Amino acid sequence: MAILFDSTNRLFTLQTNHSMYQMKADRYGVLLHTWFGMKGSAFDYSYRIAYADRGFSGNPYDAGDDRTYSLDALPQEFPAYGSGDYRSSALKVRYPDGTSACDLRYLKHEIRAGKYSLPGLPALYDDSHNSDTLIITLEDIRRMFYVHLYYGVMEDLDIITRAVCVENHSNEDIYLENIQSVCVDYLYGDFDLHTFYGRHVKERNCQRTPVRHGIQSVGSTRGTSSHQYNPFLILSNHDTTEDNGNCYGFSFLYSGDFIGSAELDQYDQTRLLLGIHPDNFSFCVKPQERFYSPEAAMAYSDHGLGKLSRIFHRAYRNHLCRGKWTTTRRPVLLNDWEGVYFDFDGDKLIQMAKDASELGIELFVMDDGWFGKRDLDVSGLGDWVVNEKKLGCTLKEISDQIHALGLQFGIWFEPEGINEDSDLYREHPEWAMQIPGKLPTRSRQQLLLDFSREDVRDYIFTHICQVLDSARIEYLKWDLNRSLSDLYSAVLPRERQGEVMHRYVLGLYDMLEKLINRYPDMLIEGCSGGGGRFDAGMLYYTPQIWCSDDTDAIERLSIQYGTSFGYPVSTMGSHVSHCPNEQTRRIAPLNTRATVAMSGTFGYELDVNKMSEEEKEIVKTQIQEFKEYYDLIQYGDYYRLTNPDAVEAYHGWEFAAPDGSEALLCIVALQIHPNGPGRWMRLKGLKKDSIYTVDGKEYAGDVLMNGGLLLPTATEEYESFRIHIVENH
Ligand code: GLA
Repeated sequence: MAILFDSTNRLFTLQTNHSMYQMKADRYGVLLHTWFGMKGSAFDYSYRIAYADRGFSGNPYDAGDDRTYSLDALPQEFPAYGSGDYRSSALKVRYPDGTSACDLRYLKHEIRAGKYSLPGLPALYDDSHNSDTLIITLEDIRRMFYVHLYYGVMEDLDIITRAVCVENHSNEDIYLENIQSVCVDYLYGDFDLHTFYGRHVKERNCQRTPVRHGIQSVGSTRGTSSHQYNPFLILSNHDTTEDNGNCYGFSFLYSGDFIGSAELDQYDQTRLLLGIHPDNFSFCVKPQERFYSPEAAMAYSDHGLGKLSRIFHRAYRNHLCRGKWTTTRRPVLLNDWEGVYFDFDGDKLIQMAKDASELGIELFVMDDGWFGKRDLDVSGLGDWVVNEKKLGCTLKEISDQIHALGLQFGIWFEPEGINEDSDLYREHPEWAMQIPGKLPTRSRQQLLLDFSREDVRDYIFTHICQVLDSARIEYLKWDLNRSLSDLYSAVLPRERQGEVMHRYVLGLYDMLEKLINRYPDMLIEGCSGGGGRFDAGMLYYTPQIWCSDDTDAIERLSIQYGTSFGYPVSTMGSHVSHCPNEQTRRIAPLNTRATVAMSGTFGYELDVNKMSEEEKEIVKTQIQEFKEYYDLIQYGDYYRLTNPDAVEAYHGWEFAAPDGSEALLCIVALQIHPNGPGRWMRLKGLKKDSIYTVDGKEYAGDVLMNGGLLLPTATEEYESFRIHIVENH
């Protein structure tokens, strides 16, 4: 059992294979946080807390004359607002009398075998039963509600998950105004905070800054996790590198508003919080009802950022993504979007599919433009009726022809979107999210449907199913092309309007769950204008997410590099597109575009009919090669060898088989210098004492890892190399 309880000290020690997390209910019943980090013995780490009489840090009444006991200074597991801890809090409620000061004390706990799940929310799962659950119940001192703190201890995965449930056991309504899923209090400062910021077509850039006094936070109030900041944060020591040093990762399994913050307090202690952003959030918990916060996953690595990422990769690949596509090879796809945009008919698509089938492509995806009145992005959203006039045939006819070519067939939807120029809007304007008496904010000339409403979701679900049932469809792309605004739901009373954002996300999850239940074998790819909803919440429903609308291979190096800190390559939608690139006009060799796209889900997004015979031959070999490397890339250990934004010449990354028996080294020459120096790349994840063959030459594993491999000389800008390293037998 990975959860130890020492009843004498009321001490909870959670152990994974390599990490440990500890809490203690102290003499006043305050739940202290005493350790997160390296695994050791289940010793009571509360000895590290220094108690001192500190001015302006008050004392709880029950501490009597003890002026050294202050919530303002103590490391706490779930600090609530208003009772003498002036740092950021994990919980703020509004009591029926309008006050908010809250004080939580330990009441009881329960240890259960297996990992908990959460109603209506994504959560990591563990079918192999190597995980356990701890639920610690705190009660507010006014005896109106319980706070159940959930911990999932995933021993083999080195992951600890958390979620919080508030249960109202009074006779009156209680309003939640802030609930954070994670709080970790460190007794010291000296941390770097790593965040992943960006914008549309430039997502998840890395930012690493020392945690300063005050609060540093990132978050989203867009109703989605957003292009701007990702709900994944790392705290590390200042000297932590890819391979060395301590670091802690925090990932939020949620696709709506979030906030992640680090606060360095007056006593040089650090508090890390991660949860729903409070700005667009309040939630009424009725008597006897429960509210569940979304789950967050935490991990610790004593071997740097690389190991931390690999912990998340393994957990998300195998214990977050669900269903057939977790273990089945995903088809190499051709998406028609950058090839034809809205300008197509059935014949054109079939022609593309014909060429695609000859190249070895396995799935043809018809992106935006096949429904309603949709020849531009200004109309038609909401009308999920096939535009047979535009296609010149039925959907079934297209699908049948594509299947006759040996391809699978996929289709794009934007279920949450609605254009004012649509039949649905004309019939149900009240289904669009807009506040009566206020003109709404438009984005891409569209509004959003009120997905917090079951009737709206049911309508859309029915219409999507009608389309999906009318033909053989194996893949669905679920897109969302704007941020939420004008939050309002016509079916909620005034005092519950603060629930709309969260209810919208719950509605989204509800519909996705229904979809995967009804079509369990369908591959669903998430998307929000590229990577605007690239988060662990979505991965519970969609095992892959379109990583960015920027398909330029060189730009993608940074985007996929940043994404790799928190997410495995098997989740990163990545395609070869044509050159000059649509977003940057850059020209990168076809081979390099494939090197980058192969380090993701791999597919093509161009008009294959316009490719030369020579290009088509190259594509054929790329697809064969990808299939050969599939297991290594998708299930292997991923190593970042360089940072594309810091490297001078050659950028590299590597996939190594978990047993070290082979590796694939990927190199892109970012600059070429005639008569330049030699370049080596040190490999990782090999067996020190084994002999490996690389391009016909033999090397010992330790030599490749210490001395490095001498790289071929690039003779063309952005040239790339894929180098296979195989252990001799
Ligand atoms: C978004 C997606 C693209 C494409 C378009 C269609 O921008 O990210 O891949 O599907 O919508 O409108």
